[in-house]
Amino acid sequence: MLTQDSPILVTGGAGFIGSHFVLDWMAEVGTPLVNLDKLTYAGNLRNLEPVAQKPGYTFVRGDIRDRELVLELLKTHRPRAIVHLAAESHVDRSLVGPGEFLDTNVHGTFVLLEATRSYWQELPAADRETFRFLHVSTDEVYGSLKPGDAPFEETFAFRPNSPYAASKAASDMLVRAWHKSYGLPTVVTNCSNNYGPMQFPEKLLPLVLHRAVHGEPLPIYGDGQQVRDWLYVGDHCRALRVALERGKPGQTYNIGGWNEQANLNTVTMLCALLDEMLPESPHRPHARLMQSVADRPGHDRRYAINASKAERELGWRPVETFETGLRKTVRWYLDHPEWVQEVTSGAYREWMETNYAQRRG
Ligand code: NAD
Ligand code: TYD
Repeated sequence: MLTQDSPILVTGGAGFIGSHFVLDWMAEVGTPLVNLDKLTYAGNLRNLEPVAQKPGYTFVRGDIRDRELVLELLKTHRPRAIVHLAAESHVDRSLVGPGEFLDTNVHGTFVLLEATRSYWQELPAADRETFRFLHVSTDEVYGSLKPGDAPFEETFAFRPNSPYAASKAASDMLVRAWHKSYGLPTVVTNCSNNYGPMQFPEKLLPLVLHRAVHGEPLPIYGDGQQVRDWLYVGDHCRALRVALERGKPGQTYNIGGWNEQANLNTVTMLCALLDEMLPESPHRPHARLMQSVADRPGHDRRYAINASKAERELGWRPVETFETGLRKTVRWYLDHPEWVQEVTSGAYREWMETNYAQRRG
């Protein structure tokens, strides 16, 4: 018999959002959690040191595409829910090498769904009802908005434009089909851009922070007027917890920060915070380091989330403002230079060369 004290299985729990989710879960909920992560370049066990020795926490290094392993974990731990975060997550990498995105995001989700289905079908009827498969997805599946367009609603058609977005859209569709065809109690969340501590410095915010501190040019793709809706990662993790508890099977929920910002504005705010927090820096004013570079191909112009359904049906709203969230984020990066140093090793430098060499004027 599954209960609220039964474990949950998290995939991708050593990544950026996953590690915040695991840390918050162990602090706020405290029931057992099994973390399955392959530890790609984006996975970092250092993030999870505070819970590594906690009773109830189990880490398993492995691939979601390994059906035998997933089946074994389900059989051994008998989770009441799966929170599926494991993915390849960076748009620029998907442009350089889309294959891995299809393998992990599409095929990986398929394997996980199939293993889950065979476990779920054997559960007693009452447990089958309460079980949840929470699929964590992105607003990028909806494509790009024009300036005056209404923000994304859950009913909008999928119009993905990058290999990453297409692979996530495909995985969302698989999850939908496993609910419709087999009755698997799935819940999907489509969230906007996250930011916060422990984000790998290939994404805009940590990349800019890392480079600005060292006085290096800050690459702004194209005219910098692309708009993203930024959400503090802690708010996202809380949304996932409530979606797990209150989300209705077969439903999707858009999660966002009600916080649309043009990239130039975001980078300018970051630079101003650095100017304030590093009064002795020779690189002040940091905004001087901004440099326009060749745009990303197929670059989505604007994302914006209408998160009314999550507010209405889940009772969730973000609590962090962009100002407070950015301040926490910048403070964390300044206080953890060793974390940044560790993840910006040889492989990171190779990626920077691959991605930015092609953007030089
Ligand atoms: P991330 O790249 O930081 O972490 C991904 C994690 O998945 C890593 O720990 C990696 O080791 C693991 N992983 C990758 N392939 C795996 C595999 N085959 N088997 C097991 N583990 C594997 O990603 P993130 O930014 O934390 O995003 C997590 C999820 O949230 C993704 O599904 C992403 O699409 C979604 N999402 C992210 C954002 C965002 O702004 N970062 C916004 C909305 C949705
Ligand atoms: P990113 O963090 O890669 O997230 P996503 O592509 O999933 O939205 O990028 C956020 C925005 O910042 C996006 O419009 C691309 C832009 N960007 C730059 O201008 N320069 C950069 O070096 C990077 C990585 C992103």
